[in-house]
Amino acid sequence: MMHVPVALSHAPYTITIGERLLTHAGEHLAAHLTSKKAIVVTDEAVGRIYLHRLSNALASIDVRSAPVLVPVGEGAKSLPHFTALLEQILALAPDRNTTLIALGGGVVGDLTGFAASVVLRGLPFIQIPTTLLAQVDSSVGGKTGVNTAYGKNVVGSFYQPKAVLIDVDTLETLPLRERLAGYAEVVKYGAIGDADFFAWLEHNGAALLAGDKTLQMEAIAKSCKAKAAVVMQDEKETKGLRALLNFGHTFGHALEAEMGYSDALLHGEAVAIGMVFAAKLSAKLGHLAPEVAARLEAHLRAVGLHTSVKNLQKPFTAEALLTHMTHDKKAENGALTFVLLKAMGQAFVAKHIAPDSVRALLQEELM
Ligand SMILES: NC(=O)c1ccc[n+]([C@@H]2O[C@H](COP(=O)([O-])OP(=O)(O)OC[C@H]3O[C@@H](n4cnc5c(N)ncnc54)[C@H](O)[C@@H]3O)[C@@H](O)[C@H]2O)c1
Ligand SMILES: [Zn+2]
Repeated sequence: MMHVPVALSHAPYTITIGERLLTHAGEHLAAHLTSKKAIVVTDEAVGRIYLHRLSNALASIDVRSAPVLVPVGEGAKSLPHFTALLEQILALAPDRNTTLIALGGGVVGDLTGFAASVVLRGLPFIQIPTTLLAQVDSSVGGKTGVNTAYGKNVVGSFYQPKAVLIDVDTLETLPLRERLAGYAEVVKYGAIGDADFFAWLEHNGAALLAGDKTLQMEAIAKSCKAKAAVVMQDEKETKGLRALLNFGHTFGHALEAEMGYSDALLHGEAVAIGMVFAAKLSAKLGHLAPEVAARLEAHLRAVGLHTSVKNLQKPFTAEALLTHMTHDKKAENGALTFVLLKAMGQAFVAKHIAPDSVRALLQEELM
């Protein structure tokens, strides 16, 4: 078992990573549960597999838990579904000590955290992320929210959990494609801040993805530490430090938008392509040796991620992608802001990138 502290001055908490944690969730959560009543929010797919394990574990410490189900998939992160979730929670007559437990991927975590931040002006909240993406990214940092027609995650709050419990056993049932999408974010931490970790992933990534739990725990702990370090310095994204976590995301978001945020391209899959693009742009602008961009691409491809838009079953145009990027919240007066690399493990924020240089690379990539 491993512990990663998230030392926020007003709300410190610990991420616990291990095997069989769900079965023993009673012991692990007892200290954080302030009442004998808890509400478990999960989606229908995760609930079917894991809900009984968690409810039994809570029952073993005399905590009664009521389940609340949300639909599977990104569509659940909408205002109508959020309202429905609030009503289901309120119907269970929670009091200020009733803990909301999110059991699921990032969708469940983001919805539950947001609900916890507003029901009765704030209920205690615990995260039990069950996708690799949620374990290394969305369950750390306290961002919650839903999507609207005006954009993704544009309504939400910063709200920290009391605890995060990461049971790697849950990855056994996660489809490989989802595992790979989460793995892209793991690679991101190596690329932006830890060359040794990247080299470790080159060596161990395939075995980790195939199910080696010791390697999974190590990679998850490293990733959580990396994200927590940034979050501790810049909790609410006011100092620009969290921006480095957006490596691969400017281009990734453009691809997701062009694909209509559909299952045809998962977020992590878009980020993998976006990271390769950002590395190539870094090289093109003279910040990075081209071999480093090639190394990043080679590793992502070796584990089975797409690294180029050419393999996606959709014709893209450079202009359409560029339009999304200039509309991304990171764009200022037409000039683009990108997270670039100067070496493996060394990212920096580059402002004022001329759209022409991005367009030129896009055109090469689309050929
Ligand atoms: N809050 C943040 O800081 C943050 C950061 C990154 C991403 N996100 C958000 O996270 C969301 C994506 O999260 P996600 O990739 O976890 O998607 P998800 O929650 O939709 O889960 C992906 C799929 O896997 C299934 N699933 C989950 N756990 C499973 C398991 N153990 N076994 C079998 N199936 C399982 C789910 O039912 C779903 O079909 C997006 O909405 C994104 O905006 C938030
Ligand atoms: Zn991401």
